[in-house]
Amino acid sequence: MAANVNVPQFPEPYWRESVSVPSFPKLDKSVKTDVGIVGGGITGITAAYLLTKQGLNVTLIDAGNILNGVTGHTTAKITAQHGIIYDELIQHFGTDKASLYYQACMEAKQLIEDTINKHDISCDYKNEDAYIFTNADNYLSKLETEKKAYEQLDIPGELKDSIPLNIPVKSALVMRDQAQFHPLKYLKQLVNEAVNNGLEIYEQTTATDVEYNKHPAIITRDEHRISCKYIIQASHYPFYDIPGFYPARMYPERAYIVAVKTPETFPGGMYINAESPTRSIRSAKMDGEDLWLISGENHKTGQGESTMNHYDALQEYAEKQFGISEYVYRWSAQDLTTMDKVPYIGPVTKEEDNIFVATGYRKWGMTNGTIAAKILSDRILNKDNSYAELYSPSRFHADPAIRKFTRMNTDVAKHMIKGKLEYTNDNVKDLSADDATVTRVNGKRTGVYKDKDNALYAVDTTCKHLGCEVNWNAGDRTWDCPCHGSRYSYTGEVIEGPAKEPLNKVELDQ
Ligand code: FES
Repeated sequence: MAANVNVPQFPEPYWRESVSVPSFPKLDKSVKTDVGIVGGGITGITAAYLLTKQGLNVTLIDAGNILNGVTGHTTAKITAQHGIIYDELIQHFGTDKASLYYQACMEAKQLIEDTINKHDISCDYKNEDAYIFTNADNYLSKLETEKKAYEQLDIPGELKDSIPLNIPVKSALVMRDQAQFHPLKYLKQLVNEAVNNGLEIYEQTTATDVEYNKHPAIITRDEHRISCKYIIQASHYPFYDIPGFYPARMYPERAYIVAVKTPETFPGGMYINAESPTRSIRSAKMDGEDLWLISGENHKTGQGESTMNHYDALQEYAEKQFGISEYVYRWSAQDLTTMDKVPYIGPVTKEEDNIFVATGYRKWGMTNGTIAAKILSDRILNKDNSYAELYSPSRFHADPAIRKFTRMNTDVAKHMIKGKLEYTNDNVKDLSADDATVTRVNGKRTGVYKDKDNALYAVDTTCKHLGCEVNWNAGDRTWDCPCHGSRYSYTGEVIEGPAKEPLNKVELDQ
């Protein structure tokens, strides 16, 4: 590990640090609108932009601040190369639908490019080739099979035995004509355009339920109503769901990013390896210098080793492959994967066909989020969209789905029981500063964090979603749930759903 570089003390994404995003008030009254959008990430903002452009009244709320969820923590590759996926899509959905998936991603890229050109947005947009590389013998044939899938689907690309990046590879599959950008420079401009077209945004406003009379209404935690004709849930996990449908059909994964400067000049291109652990590499410009964004170390949320180890592993990789002259940022992101790896975009149920979801992007949110916004806004505007059926949440392809469904729910049941039994008898007074433990307080499993000034924060570790026990995430100083990925700050506030309520606070005898 590089001995002479300072590890950033707190996780902070470069994107948020390099752009000032406008802030908006909290909703303090009930309102009426055409479309209510929950979630201010790339899906919600792009949909708001597309709909307000056509003259619709749109109100968007976010439980925290806009552009601060997954979208603020992405690697921001705009690509149809979502890992090794096309051979699997052909096997599962057939050639036509696999081809539609590629076309949908490329249409998302085109929409982003057209929007940038239309509004002259300066957001470091750059066309790049995307590479999947491997150094593992057992992945050579998988890359060859994937290359055949590219040929079948007319995807421009080829197999190479080296890549522009100065690292050894045994084989690499390139996909031509992909892109990258600074997501917040782009989306900030979309926010401005949509607000000029009448978009109303409210931050720190949590949606808790939907009421259905003639039209649906979003109910907020403060019991205000947003009455609308359509609702778009662009909040990662849908907050409104037929009981258990979505949590049981997706699993959350975290990934980590380190942003470093190296003595080398970045040669261009975007890269991801085929094998585990994942290593994904792209660059961004910071004050005219290359910032290398190295990400990976994916794991299920709330499960596995101390999260700081994942940052350490990426730092070690960056140091070994390229050398680190400065370690500038580190941050992590979480996203959901569906059973067949294709996002759920469309009506939440067949009956409630004016309430939509967009979720399960599998960490490819720039293209998936943009195509979701297009599909949903087309539906609201009564326009045909040839991709709608592929992404419909009510699709059902039995075999892989059922096997994974059983496995995912067995995993949840295991964590539900295991978590209840695990705790220490640590005396919280012996805790080091900036550390946490799980102990018992008055018979209750309690998580205790001691901050740098030795102040203690104690929470009941039972997750407010369905009752699993949360675990400490030392890298981000959060309590994470292993079952469906809810995350809470060390004071117990919800950072990511599906949980809607904060963890109960526990009084300590000090
Ligand atoms: Fe579902 Fe915690 S029990 S997220």
